[in-house]
Amino acid sequence: MKHLVSPLDFSVPELESLLALGEKIMDNPEQYAHCCAGKKLATLFFEPSTRTRLSFEAAMLDLGGSVLSVSSAASSSASKGESIADTMRIVGNYADVIAMRHYQEGAAAQAVRYALCPVINAGDGGHLHPTQTLTDLLTIRRKKGKFDGLVIGLCGDLKYGRTVHSLIRAMMRYDNVRFVLIHPRELALPSYIENEMRAKGCAFEYYERLEDAMDKLDVLYMTRVQQERFADRDEYLRLRDSYILDTAKMALAKADMIVLHPLPRVNEIAPDVDDDPRACYFYQALCGKFVRMALILTLLEEAGEKTLGAPARPLPANAALTDRVCSNPTCVTQTEQGILRAAVKDGQIERCYYCEHEL
Ligand code: CP
Repeated sequence: MKHLVSPLDFSVPELESLLALGEKIMDNPEQYAHCCAGKKLATLFFEPSTRTRLSFEAAMLDLGGSVLSVSSAASSSASKGESIADTMRIVGNYADVIAMRHYQEGAAAQAVRYALCPVINAGDGGHLHPTQTLTDLLTIRRKKGKFDGLVIGLCGDLKYGRTVHSLIRAMMRYDNVRFVLIHPRELALPSYIENEMRAKGCAFEYYERLEDAMDKLDVLYMTRVQQERFADRDEYLRLRDSYILDTAKMALAKADMIVLHPLPRVNEIAPDVDDDPRACYFYQALCGKFVRMALILTLLEEAGEKTLGAPARPLPANAALTDRVCSNPTCVTQTEQGILRAAVKDGQIERCYYCEHEL
């Protein structure tokens, strides 16, 4: 049974097949209108969402399937203290595939150990958001026609922006991709992503001012400063307006650059940029539905028979049990009952298997 926890769960050829299927569905949606008849998707969203939850649900409905939905932690038994493991054991009895968004980093890695059906990580705290990456890749493929050789600017909150972490992981597998990082010093990439870029010999450079980077970019990926991840509200208020893309800055960019944003935006893109043909963020949200249709189809095709009441799956071979406690206050290990503490090696560094913070 295949799950999607990290963008690296699909090899580059598998990703190519998935994106090609997304394009085929986008061009001929009626041919896929009954492919999931009799199948059910459960959307478990323990954190707010508009695009991801609704596009998943629209995707399943457009495939002829049905949807069961939890739209907030407060409306589910998570609010009574039910563990992720038990939630998976229960919901797998009712659904054929689960898309879960959770406020804790590493929640999806815990979920798949207990899943009775394929599980899709629809965002785990500030960690990863692999289906947003599928959305981003389909948009880039349709607008630029390639991934190799692109210069990608990532602007805003690179520390807490899970979409950025996932996109870098996916894009660094293509040839001669160069990243331009534009962020306040306080909102730099987590070390596990930066180390991964260094280890793979991936080219990246840093700019403090967006104006200085604009003319170099093929893709500009704007992000919101993630208010909900800040422990200190004053720090958020100080940093939230660090970058605002406006028409004056757009005038500095290449004629064929594209602007992406996972959305929601707050005020990091001025509304008059929306009229620029290079602004592709609303088209990107449309791509999200079609690529999620492709993902649901692919995972359901690969899922075997459900084994109800199955025991927990072992940890993967690269994870070893540890006594060390993860100090990340938003890691799933902080609250999940009975979770196995586990570490993965990153050179000389040991990282939490779930959230990837240094132990
Ligand atoms: N891009 C994204 O994840 O949007 P939502 O939070 O609205 O799902």
